[in-house]
Amino acid sequence: MSARMGTVVIGGGTGFIGSALSSLLKRNGYSVILVSRMPGPQRLSWTDLANEGLPKDCKAVVNLAGQNVLDPTRRWTPGFKQNVWSSRVHTNKALAKAITAADKKPEVFVTVSGVGYYKPSLTEEYTEDSPGGNFDFLSNLCTEWEAAAKLPAEIESSVRRVVIRSGIVLGRGGGMIQQLYIPFWFGLGGPVGSGLQPLPWIHITDMARLFHFAIEGKENKNLQGIFNGVAPNVVSNKDFTKSFASALRRPAFIPVPLFALNIAFGEERAKIMTEGQNVKPKRALEMGFRFLYPDIDSACKAIVGVKKHEEDPL
Ligand SMILES: NC(=O)c1ccc[n+]([C@@H]2O[C@H](COP(=O)([O-])OP(=O)(O)OC[C@H]3O[C@@H](n4cnc5c(N)ncnc54)[C@H](OP(=O)(O)O)[C@@H]3O)[C@@H](O)[C@H]2O)c1
Repeated sequence: MSARMGTVVIGGGTGFIGSALSSLLKRNGYSVILVSRMPGPQRLSWTDLANEGLPKDCKAVVNLAGQNVLDPTRRWTPGFKQNVWSSRVHTNKALAKAITAADKKPEVFVTVSGVGYYKPSLTEEYTEDSPGGNFDFLSNLCTEWEAAAKLPAEIESSVRRVVIRSGIVLGRGGGMIQQLYIPFWFGLGGPVGSGLQPLPWIHITDMARLFHFAIEGKENKNLQGIFNGVAPNVVSNKDFTKSFASALRRPAFIPVPLFALNIAFGEERAKIMTEGQNVKPKRALEMGFRFLYPDIDSACKAIVGVKKHEEDPL
């Protein structure tokens, strides 16, 4: 069934960001087909994609697939790291291959990456022009993940490509908040370590809207390239803790010691929580993207259900 605006194919679209994006796209007249490891209606498996290619009226391709890096039940072993790596790089490659093979190309290929591309720092401020992508496992992963979405030169000129380097996505039902909600609700929340490390964040609604903005980017000044997917006001981990606890009307005095996270997650991946980057969404703002949740207090109030932005479509 093809909808008024065409079809968007979303790899890993069953997850936290994918579910929000799918419902936003459907509200805007698109039909959505998910590429998933699990069968279901309006879904393709990765094997179907390799064998049958993209659907005929495919307007846009998005990839959000990736093994959950912060899964607390999985140890940070070489095997798990390999899974984290290949679930991102191979799925981007599979979708790039399907686009290359399609008789009628989609207009745009939008993929996600992470702000782990930029080196954690208490003082540096990063934009899309800043260097990075070459200093540890996660930054190297971002480089390979982004590169895996490249299309052959003769196609790059006809299919717009957008990469969204995402900060920590805040919303109910997934990501970091899903893990923090219960401890914070019981008043057991607190800053991580010193709490001074920056926490580059974005509200789930704005994340879905940024993908939608990228998909419709042809109308929006032929938008392409790297976009930092973060809110304009980065906060410290301590300020986030204060804001989230206050939205829940709970205290949050109990700091989470660094050694506990290092033991539970392994130092290399605990860095996502124990360190951070001050990242700015320079290009999104230049291109006229309007954040519904630019500040952490309004985002936290929306997450706990106290006050949603009147224009929040989700
Ligand atoms: N949430 C955040 O704060 C955040 C921040 C930065 C970057 N990102 C990136 O954005 C993407 C989406 O994030 P999310 O929070 O929506 O993640 P999510 O809820 O974990 O969803 C990711 C989807 O990827 C698919 N997947 C999982 N493991 C896979 C594997 N081994 N091979 C192939 N597919 C696999 C799953 O779909 P099926 O089970 O249907 O196959 C899953 O629904 C991820 O790549 C993530 O790294 C997220």
